[in-house]
Amino acid sequence: MSTTFLLFILTIGTCSIHSLAQTCPPPPRCPPISPPPRPLPFPRVRPRPPLYPPALHLMPRQPNNNPGPLANGARILFITQELKRNITFDPRNYTGTWVGNNYCLFRGFFCDTVPDRNITGLAAIDFNGARFGGILNFYRFVMNLPDIAIFHANSNNFSGPINSNLNQLRYFYELDLSNNKFIGGFPSNVLRAQKLTFVDIRFNNYLGPVPAQAFNIDTDVLFINNNQFNRTIPANFGNTPALYLTLANNKLTGSIPRSIGRAWNTLVEALFLGNRLTGCPLKSDTCRRPRCWILGSTC
Ligand SMILES: *[C@@H]1O[C@H](CO)[C@@H](O)[C@H](O)[C@H]1NC(C)=O
Ligand SMILES: *[C@@H]1O[C@H](CO)[C@@H](O)[C@H](O)[C@H]1NC(C)=O
Ligand SMILES: *[C@@H]1O[C@H](CO)[C@@H](O)[C@H](O)[C@H]1NC(C)=O
Ligand SMILES: *[C@@H]1O[C@H](CO)[C@@H](O)[C@H](O)[C@H]1NC(C)=O
Ligand SMILES: *[C@@H]1O[C@H](CO)[C@@H](O)[C@H](O)[C@H]1NC(C)=O
Repeated sequence: MSTTFLLFILTIGTCSIHSLAQTCPPPPRCPPISPPPRPLPFPRVRPRPPLYPPALHLMPRQPNNNPGPLANGARILFITQELKRNITFDPRNYTGTWVGNNYCLFRGFFCDTVPDRNITGLAAIDFNGARFGGILNFYRFVMNLPDIAIFHANSNNFSGPINSNLNQLRYFYELDLSNNKFIGGFPSNVLRAQKLTFVDIRFNNYLGPVPAQAFNIDTDVLFINNNQFNRTIPANFGNTPALYLTLANNKLTGSIPRSIGRAWNTLVEALFLGNRLTGCPLKSDTCRRPRCWILGSTC
């Protein structure tokens, strides 16, 4: 995997009202969060360890039209044809390019050298803005892409289950399923991927509790806003090493767990607005970082 894939530019919107709950002021007013994609550059500030030892000399990335032998060709072609049949709406004609044996030429597919095989493989899927409609069985699809590191499918009309865990995907670190039609409970299976650093499931119809495990994984970003999550925020909330957390616009109840104090060293921004939270868990001296914003807790 070349570092190019680590440099994908991500975007999030940030709410610019700075409002620490110093003396328990009334809930701050914050503009509504609008659906992704959004233009602001995402600051990727925490250095991540490389996916493979820097001393390992890999074959340079090959040109898409002449990639040499391809990793997992039969499997990837098979599952791509299955997905193609499931896509009922394809206004930008992505699937029209999903023909032939060279998946590096398929629109939305990105190849790179697979570190442990040193041949070309499928490193990333980017369906952002494809506006697909239809059924994506995300688990079934992605488990047949064994070398994948990044999966983006922002703003499609995908639905369907994530019905088993992703711990066999040894390079997978970035997931964006935001602004789709996913339903059901929190997709806990995605949390089992070992190297996950970016999890974005905003703007779906997920419901029920947020599992405690969501705050135990070593992720930089956890965006779960604009779903239907209810119940209280798990008490281990402060375990999270995430820089950005958005829980806004759900139906969460209770108060922000006091364990949030443990996250001050890493947390840059957390959004809680648009829930049914009560209580005032924040003390004036707990947040030392200049960019630590805690928005929308009601006091
Ligand atoms: C990968 O392949 C290239 C080109 O064949 C070779 O120069 C390099 O040493 C290989 N790296 C490893 C780790 O096998
Ligand atoms: C979709 O793209 C394919 C390949 O480029 C082309 O042959 C086909 O005519 C296109 N279909 C539509 C509906 O534009
Ligand atoms: C998703 O489907 C709805 C109707 O079910 C449609 O109005 C909307 O335009 C679709 N969105 C995309 C991105 O295709
Ligand atoms: C395609 O749709 C079928 C029928 O709903 C489903 O069983 C299958 O898992 C889907 N495959 C993919 C790759 O989404
Ligand atoms: C949370 O949502 C689920 C699913 O909609 C519902 O069955 C449950 O009663 C809700 N619980 C609370 C405490 O609101």
